[in-house]
Amino acid sequence: MPKPGFPTTRMRRNRYDDWTRRLVAENALSANDLIWPVFVHGGDEARIEVPTLPGVSRLSIKELVKNVGDAKSVGIPMVAVFPVVEPSLKTEDAEEAYNADNLVCRAVAAVKEAHDGIGVMCDVALDPFTSHGHDGLMRDGKIVNDETVDVLCKQAVTQAKAGCDVIAPSDMMDGRVGAIRGALDEEGFQHVRIMAYSAKYASALYGPFRDAVGSAPNLSGGDKKTYQMDPANSDEALREVALDIEEGADMVMVKPGLFYLDILRRVKEIFSMPTFAYQVSGEYAMLKVAGQQNLVDGEKVMDEALIACKRAGANGILTYAALETAKKLT
Ligand code: PBG
Repeated sequence: MPKPGFPTTRMRRNRYDDWTRRLVAENALSANDLIWPVFVHGGDEARIEVPTLPGVSRLSIKELVKNVGDAKSVGIPMVAVFPVVEPSLKTEDAEEAYNADNLVCRAVAAVKEAHDGIGVMCDVALDPFTSHGHDGLMRDGKIVNDETVDVLCKQAVTQAKAGCDVIAPSDMMDGRVGAIRGALDEEGFQHVRIMAYSAKYASALYGPFRDAVGSAPNLSGGDKKTYQMDPANSDEALREVALDIEEGADMVMVKPGLFYLDILRRVKEIFSMPTFAYQVSGEYAMLKVAGQQNLVDGEKVMDEALIACKRAGANGILTYAALETAKKLT
């Protein structure tokens, strides 16, 4: 028998009731933490399912506008719009990326016209628009940096003109944040924010996303290791983030999410920046499929994955589960 009063400190006391557990909780997830990535296609069909991304569809512009309204009504602060570009519009040099009337620009303009009070973010990277599926321009089989950055600047300005609030360079070219900041400012878009995909890894978890936007066949088994980061590296992520901040990033991102929580924690602690995690398509799909097959409780593991990102230091999370999660929270 332990002595009366032993042990003095009993960690379990604060866990005794639901209300104490709530009282001492160190982190909480709210709709304000969620960014919802959405796919838009150029056709009339309201929704086209993505087989490798359970519960996610490519939306027509009309359906997108409706869905952004749903997101707004449950308090989601921002959506990230990704275009599914017609294969016939993809070229070696991604000219469609800076066509002012391209799909993503039409979608952004439609959303901004229908709704205020919700932010719209767009990726800056060439992969939806290149015939080879890479984020940059290819010359003699290599992805060239500086020439790509010139095109990214044109793409960013084009998207800002369409009404995009947050430009999110996801291409991992060197110097792109500074160049894009300069290009935006020169065109009078000082208020347009930059969320830099600063520590973006060459991950195998992007597969379902590439199916969704249709870039997988273009890339045809190729990888992005000459520009995205090696999953073995951590210090290098800090150098990437430091550069992006120096170049003018307003917010930084670590991507993927759950496999890279150590990076998220280091970035948040060292830079104290608004820091975001991207729960990418592969990690979302794994949790969903495991839930659908009753291997785990799908809803609970999703909630646990999202609070894990918060605990690691994320100010917010990009997740395909944003709408369903925000609905539960409101
Ligand atoms: C485009 C881009 C990718 C993702 C976001 N922007 C794919 C890639 O870099 O190949 C991945 C998102 C996800 O998997 O959910 N550069």
